[in-house]
Amino acid sequence: MTHLRLPLLALFSPGLFWLTGLSLLQAAEPIKIGEFASLTGKEAAFGQSSHKGTALAIEELNAAGGVLGRPLQLVFEDNQSKSGESATIVKKLISRDKVVALLGEVASSRSLEAAPLAQAAKIPMISPSSTNPKVTMVGDYIFRVCFIDPFQGTALAKFAVAHLKARRVAVLTSVSSAYSVGLSKYFHEQFLKDGGEIVADLKYSEGDKDFKAQLTAIRAAKPEAIFIPGYYTEVALIARQARDLGLDVPMFGGDGWEAPELMTIGGAAVNGCFYSTHYSSEAPVAAVQTFIKKFRAKYDNETPDAMAALGSDSAFVLVDAIKRAGSVEPAKIRDALAATKGFEGVTGRTDIDAHRNASKAAVIIEVKDGKFVFVESVAP
Ligand code: PHE
Repeated sequence: MTHLRLPLLALFSPGLFWLTGLSLLQAAEPIKIGEFASLTGKEAAFGQSSHKGTALAIEELNAAGGVLGRPLQLVFEDNQSKSGESATIVKKLISRDKVVALLGEVASSRSLEAAPLAQAAKIPMISPSSTNPKVTMVGDYIFRVCFIDPFQGTALAKFAVAHLKARRVAVLTSVSSAYSVGLSKYFHEQFLKDGGEIVADLKYSEGDKDFKAQLTAIRAAKPEAIFIPGYYTEVALIARQARDLGLDVPMFGGDGWEAPELMTIGGAAVNGCFYSTHYSSEAPVAAVQTFIKKFRAKYDNETPDAMAALGSDSAFVLVDAIKRAGSVEPAKIRDALAATKGFEGVTGRTDIDAHRNASKAAVIIEVKDGKFVFVESVAP
């Protein structure tokens, strides 16, 4: 009998009760959250960062007891930065893994690819950092926790006039990226309104490696600055080839510039260039500094960038919605997400508006002597 009585009594000892509580959490069926990201390939820096932020958030949430008495399980897949892959992966996450919600993607084109599938299956999807307005227009199950490009493009146009004192700007847009096309359009609108002149308007495509023809035309137009609404992969090459051609005016762009590769590939060519993004690791804000400390502890002293911060915020916003919904039914999670107000995260406060977007401050960063330096913050 003694061997039976001991474990029963042990249940009432505080230390063991805690252990039993923990194992009950482990025994409960996990809540599956799907994530799709560019973990390899052309924009691996985006997917890696975003995924690290998301994974850290899930780990922290589980350490604090999960949600609704159940642990969270992040089921993630790599789309290799390739178009076509996000649709396949998201289908799998929904039908095979039965995820209750989806987190992804960083790049707008890939979010736009996946969103119709999430919408059709009525599985809520939160993009951490896709800024093209069309992403959330896909339907009422699609959300984001970042600002959108009409705001970012306007902020950059104002920055060109006020800070760069540029009236004559050349623009180089990636026609195969929804993000680039949109950001270029919103920049044009505001810059022209403010009396600026677009002296050259040229195009490239994702994956291009040689930009000499466009840059030669830009050089002939004698701009005071060059606006490149693209991703770091091409931007770093464009910057190098521009300097080789003797173009020494400042170049500037949006959040797509943010990656260590901008500097490692761009080198001296990107010195004195500017871009806008969602967060600065230099911000003297408690939530930011605490996040950085935890991130550095888990990831080998790496300092998190904007995608990591938004990846983390997207997971916290989702789990907050699950908690308020009191349910893992996707329709109820959707309703709770739509009602998100005043959620304080690393990138500021998330208020989901009627179009399922967030509105947050942008920060302008200068690439200065091998460092990303905070220049200013632009209020929404
Ligand atoms: N905003 C970009 C897009 O919509 C992605 C991005 C976000 C890139 C944050 C870098 C940092 O495609």
